[in-house]
Amino acid sequence: MSELRFDGKVVLITGAGAGLGKCYALEFAKRGASVVVNDLGSTPGGVGSSAKVADQVVDEIRKLGGTAVANYDSVEFGEKLVNTALQNFGRIDIVINNAGILRDRSFMRMSDDEWDLVNKIHLRGSYSVTKAAWNHMKTQNYGRIIMTSSASGLYGNYGQSNYSAAKMGLIGFANTLKLEGKKYNISVNTIAPNALTRLTEGLIPPEVGKDLKIEYIMPLVIYLCHESCLETGGVFEVSGGHVCKLRWERTKGAVLREEGKPMLPEDIKKNWEQVVDFSEREVLETIGDSVMAGVSAVQRVQAGDNDLGSSHPIKPKL
Ligand code: NAI
Repeated sequence: MSELRFDGKVVLITGAGAGLGKCYALEFAKRGASVVVNDLGSTPGGVGSSAKVADQVVDEIRKLGGTAVANYDSVEFGEKLVNTALQNFGRIDIVINNAGILRDRSFMRMSDDEWDLVNKIHLRGSYSVTKAAWNHMKTQNYGRIIMTSSASGLYGNYGQSNYSAAKMGLIGFANTLKLEGKKYNISVNTIAPNALTRLTEGLIPPEVGKDLKIEYIMPLVIYLCHESCLETGGVFEVSGGHVCKLRWERTKGAVLREEGKPMLPEDIKKNWEQVVDFSEREVLETIGDSVMAGVSAVQRVQAGDNDLGSSHPIKPKL
């Protein structure tokens, strides 16, 4: 199989001074891309800044014979990051929204500042960088974008309500961008990785973490950003060598309304087991499918076909 190359392509990786982002930056450079290594150089909690963090990665890439420039701005200022790509390399093909911080605290104790800061860096930061790159990608009819979500968003995690909300927000963001980007050949995919980095060293026990290497996340990101990959709108969990795709599914549910009669909370309660029973599942692809499911429920009600059965308290006895 031929190597996945990125010659002539320009990639901007946020938070590329350490952890996952650094791993991506080195690999993209090895594979021929021109790389913008963005990193604010802050602590895992988002305090301070240092140009050294990005500079070291740029030096490493150049020593290996690759092409890279540093950018030290926070992802809050997406235009500045994208301008670094445009000024140095004349285009922007790939954006990897990766920079991140944590401000963990139980929800009861979480301050507004902790909520806002985490959302500002992860969700608004990804918005800001993507927004600045979007029109360039649209004009050139080509773009590859990665959002970095988290299992904390997908499943929840104690002390991470701010982070979970931001990480799940990125999936909603990508859900719409995949639609708006399709006709311009802009793909938008989301990963939820698990790997040992300075961000997770206090969260993943060392005996588990030692085998969860960042090198096992990188290959998926490289593939999703290649021109041969047409996947868009995907959400992928990736860790320890395992890669899989996620999707929403819903229960078959129940139609709990009768024509001409009020819909009752008591009927919801009585039929709850059926509402939440996943033994029959449905997978919907679009918002249109979701709206049409409501329309077909209305049609069933009008045809006298519902799932109230004999349990309905006001259903006339036959
Ligand atoms: P890391 O702490 O090793 O690297 C993150 C980098 O982002 C740091 O170098 C930091 O200086 C930089 N950064 C922070 N705020 C920034 C800002 N405002 N602007 C520019 N750069 C900034 O963390 P790691 O683990 O490599 O995380 C990368 C991404 O992956 C994050 O979005 C994180 O939430 C996500 N993630 C990581 C997981 C893991 O298991 N390591 C699990 C789930 C998600």
